[in-house]
Amino acid sequence: MKQDLLGLKDLSAQQIKNILSHAADMKKVVLSDSKKIPNLQGKTVVNLFYENSTRTRMSFELAAKYMSANAANISSSGSSVAKGETLIDTAETLDVMGTDILVMRHNMSGAPHLIAPVIKASVINAGDGMNEHPTQALLDIFTMIEHKGHIEGLKVAIIGDISHSRVVRSNIHGLTKLGAEVSLGGPATLMPKDIDKMGVKVFNNVQEAIIDADVVMGLRIQLERQKKGLFPSVREYFRFFGVDESRLRLAKPDAILMHPGPVNRGVELSTSVIDGDKSVITEQVTNGVAVRMAVMDMLINGGF
Ligand code: NCD
Repeated sequence: MKQDLLGLKDLSAQQIKNILSHAADMKKVVLSDSKKIPNLQGKTVVNLFYENSTRTRMSFELAAKYMSANAANISSSGSSVAKGETLIDTAETLDVMGTDILVMRHNMSGAPHLIAPVIKASVINAGDGMNEHPTQALLDIFTMIEHKGHIEGLKVAIIGDISHSRVVRSNIHGLTKLGAEVSLGGPATLMPKDIDKMGVKVFNNVQEAIIDADVVMGLRIQLERQKKGLFPSVREYFRFFGVDESRLRLAKPDAILMHPGPVNRGVELSTSVIDGDKSVITEQVTNGVAVRMAVMDMLINGGF
């Protein structure tokens, strides 16, 4: 039976560990001079993106190509979606062209869950509204393990627009399953009411969330998903909630700084910390290719 990756909510700790360990092998391919392995030879990967993307879409495309798959992209503008075709009709159309993996990004939470049961291809959720972005959290966790050696007992502070972030939800599922302690910080207006029920600590003050953290992760202000008036102005946001050098000093001396990108410089993070020695933001991008190779290989060839 075909398998899908819709969210980290659905995976066990062991499944997550298996993917991460396979990703370590795939990273060697990404860093090698000869980036071509035969694992997806003859298979077809289609990226169906209804929202903007630079790194996630390119990362899936390169991951597919490094594994010798046929890779194709389609975005909502320029497709029949713009002519009024439904999501299910679009997905079924791509399915019957011989697609083996459909990578999907959609602004509606739950969109890939709707598609997965009705098509033959494996569906990978590349971000659904404010719900989940499982491969992003897998690459984040992979990066934490590379630097810290383990997740159990790690203190991870996630700062910013918690309400509208699918990255944070996937990270909370993954990190808590693996035994990390997650603290959230940001404006009360961008903090969902019941988020503490997910097993995390909630602070309306960024400083307290960051104290003694091993990992500090900034999140982008998701203006495209926000109603007006959730914070006074971008400049004031940085003053009260942005991560700069003085706030980052509250974390452990060997803490790492992460962000899923794209970063608004000087809004969520200061330029000095983005380009500073604690930042692993560019490593996250490289690791994203390795993690996506691992996921696609395991969905098609077993081990998922
Ligand atoms: C994230 C997303 O799309 O949710 N970006 C990404 O995939 N690297 C985060 C964001 O857009 O802020």
